[in-house]
Amino acid sequence: MRTLSLALICSVSAILAACGGGSSSSSDASSPSSGASAPAASTLSQKAQLGQTIFFDKSLSSNKNMACASCHSPAYAYGPPNSLSVQLGSDPSLSGVRAVPSLRYKAMTPPYDDNAANPDGVTQNAPGGGFMLDGRATTLATQPAFPLLNPIEMNNSSPDVVVKAVQSGPYAARFQQVYGQGVFGNTMAAFNDIGDALQQFQIEEPSFETYTSKFDLYIGNKLGGTLTAAETRGLKLFNDTTNGAGCAACHYVGANFQGSVGLMTDFTYQAIGAPRNDASIPNNTDPIPANANASFVDMGLCGPYATIHIPGSATSGAGPDSFTGVNVPDPYCGRFKVPTLRNVATRSVFFHNGVFHSLVQVINFYNTRDTNPEYWYPSTGGDSSHQVQNPSFALFPTAASGATAQSFNDLPAAYQGNIDEELPMGQGQTDAGGTTAADGAKPRPIHSTPQLTQQDIADLVCFLNTLTDGYQPPATPPTSGSCVN
Ligand code: HEC
Ligand code: HEC
Repeated sequence: MRTLSLALICSVSAILAACGGGSSSSSDASSPSSGASAPAASTLSQKAQLGQTIFFDKSLSSNKNMACASCHSPAYAYGPPNSLSVQLGSDPSLSGVRAVPSLRYKAMTPPYDDNAANPDGVTQNAPGGGFMLDGRATTLATQPAFPLLNPIEMNNSSPDVVVKAVQSGPYAARFQQVYGQGVFGNTMAAFNDIGDALQQFQIEEPSFETYTSKFDLYIGNKLGGTLTAAETRGLKLFNDTTNGAGCAACHYVGANFQGSVGLMTDFTYQAIGAPRNDASIPNNTDPIPANANASFVDMGLCGPYATIHIPGSATSGAGPDSFTGVNVPDPYCGRFKVPTLRNVATRSVFFHNGVFHSLVQVINFYNTRDTNPEYWYPSTGGDSSHQVQNPSFALFPTAASGATAQSFNDLPAAYQGNIDEELPMGQGQTDAGGTTAADGAKPRPIHSTPQLTQQDIADLVCFLNTLTDGYQPPATPPTSGSCVN
């Protein structure tokens, strides 16, 4: 089921567009390849087909203007169809607080566990698994309750409203066929069945997991799967935790729990200190509205959402057991899920708060977070009459000479010790005196030379581009151009 021919993917895309219940007029629900072939008979079970219809059904939102597919667009690897940091809700006066993740390669996510084993077999147990960026949804079946009932997303006031919309909609009879004639008699059971159908769709629909990237062809030793010199250098840097970029320490390349290969995540949660996405960033056209309130802090695994219990639904937060409240140092605060990097090059918004808008920027952040925090965080003090120019990739174009950057400004000081200091290179890092830090966990000294060169970063971006599904080897491989030599 996981390996699928490109032709079949096209026809599945066509089915998606054709079955898009109410979404055919909207570009967000169509796929780039949807025009390529006529709809073919669906290979999906009845449940999954129902889930597919629900996934595209805009009538399940308060203003009948938003489906799951509006934010998780099939044309963008089931990620956001635009570069907005966060999406507007069905009520457009309300806005989300997190960037929309891709839904590809999610079905084999293990359940959330405070004490999960690491796939590398070496790293000690730590929080891992679960859905949402803070693991608070236990399964793909309980997850839909969050967007359906969240006022800033689909904004239904109760499970009853959602069930009534299905009951009075065009596929009510199909819903009864699959879940029983009496299904609408029990609101909570019917609401859970909606989640069940959505889960089945995400498990069965082949376009969620096609394994058709250039990287897949390469590791599968398939024809045309040769990486270029630049991509090969990028892959080496990605994997090398001693002298390279050490990305694979978290974006795990090997076999995962469910035997799948190269999901580019170890399913753990890490605090890497993304800058606060607010108006302190000059010319920020896209700050998170919630961040205008200085007391709002999104701390991932330790809240504010990880403990939410949705009243009247079977869904409760599956977040950390050790939630202790905001004033007690909690090792989970600031940790977010390590996302898969598959199809990451199709995105234009990165990290949980969408603060970055290009891969070059993301990797430069990893590279210079500790050596040049003034690129990424607001600074105070210094000689404001002497502004130092920062590189073009920086969030802050200038900083006053001698100023102090407010590193990790999106996490209260009490939790800043949770930040992973090994970035960007993992073990074997040397400190200012040239000695290797035994635990590999020493931050690179301020204004020391960063680990990676701009060439390294370009190579890493070339490698990340090989993770995009739907790769078709060119008849004649190019001998020049970007990402070749
Ligand atoms: C308004 C935009 C929006 C809509 C509509 C929406 N989502 Fe999401 N989705 C998000 C965001 C944002 C997240 C991350 C939320 C978080 O971590 O709190 C997310 C997370 C998820 C995840 C977890 C992914 C992961 O990496 O663990 C799944 C699965 C998902 N959504 C499925 C759905 C389904 C099914 C629907 C329709 C019932 C839906 N979404 C509707 C924005 C949306
Ligand atoms: C210590 C673990 C760790 C290491 C090492 C690491 N990452 Fe990440 N990466 C994360 C986490 C956690 C996130 C999500 C952060 C957030 O949402 O705030 C992330 C997010 C990303 C994203 C954004 C993806 C998205 O969908 O928004 C990219 C791209 C990325 N990492 C690439 C890399 C590269 C390239 C390297 C090596 C230079 C690397 N990472 C090293 C943990 C790590």
